[in-house]
Amino acid sequence: MDHTPKPFEFYTAEKLWNDPHISKKMLEFHLDPDLEPASRSHEFISRSIGWMTDRFRIGTGMAIADFGCGPGLYTTAFAQKGADVLGIDFSDRSIRYARKQAAENRLPIQYVQQNYLDFQTDRRFDLITLIYCDFCVLSPDQRRRLLASVSNLLKDGGLIFLDVFSLSAFETRTEATVFEHCLMEGFWSSDDYYGFLKTIRYEKEKVVLDKYTIIEPSGQRKIYNWLQYFSLPALTGELKQAGLEIRESYSDVSGAQFDSGSDTMAVVAGKR
Ligand SMILES: C[S@@+](CC[C@H](N)C(=O)[O-])C[C@H]1O[C@@H](n2cnc3c(N)ncnc32)[C@H](O)[C@@H]1O
Repeated sequence: MDHTPKPFEFYTAEKLWNDPHISKKMLEFHLDPDLEPASRSHEFISRSIGWMTDRFRIGTGMAIADFGCGPGLYTTAFAQKGADVLGIDFSDRSIRYARKQAAENRLPIQYVQQNYLDFQTDRRFDLITLIYCDFCVLSPDQRRRLLASVSNLLKDGGLIFLDVFSLSAFETRTEATVFEHCLMEGFWSSDDYYGFLKTIRYEKEKVVLDKYTIIEPSGQRKIYNWLQYFSLPALTGELKQAGLEIRESYSDVSGAQFDSGSDTMAVVAGKR
């Protein structure tokens, strides 16, 4: 029997976003206006972009980097407003789609296909975004690395805008075990398979693991989806360690008023 892994013991995110079959499904989810496993609904995204445009005065001359940009749902809108935009994502399929969209719309967006934990550039940014709770999938070490890099990439007066899952969302998570033929209706493979999902709560750390074991005739794969849930003080502490301070907090990236009962929170932070 498998041991219970330590929080964030295994990092398999790249398998999730770069496997040929799974990444195809993920791109379909991104582009579906209503489904939310990969991006928020398109109605929400358009509200979020409207709010961000006003809040950050997104327009000509503003340098924006979008970490985990996916197929470019936000980057495209920022560039259409005249901003100078860079998008980073390690998903080959998403970046190919994003580049095609940019070419078709004649938008000079720079896309980088890379793990954003390793991203380096001489450019500096007015705004760095990390949207749809991607911060939560990273281990404490990875989060430290990412925030140090973000802090270094911001211009003086530059801001980071990110959202995370809250402790209220943690309270809704329950432990479960599911074993099913073609678990999640073929999401994990185009071949016949059995899928085993084990959900584990780590009470002290406020972490949840969804561990998927996919059993196919060709062998077995394990995917570990970790989520760190945050209180506002915990998030404040992590940002502070990287020399960043929270300037504003909201319930989500559309600027909804902060409410500790909300499933998510979004913060605007800058260098101290
Ligand atoms: C939940 S999706 C959100 C996409 C986009 N921000 C949105 O809201 O539409 C997370 C994205 O981050 C990318 N990603 C996750 N971890 C990454 C990493 N370490 N480096 C680069 N991209 C990453 C995934 O490929 C995926 O496109």
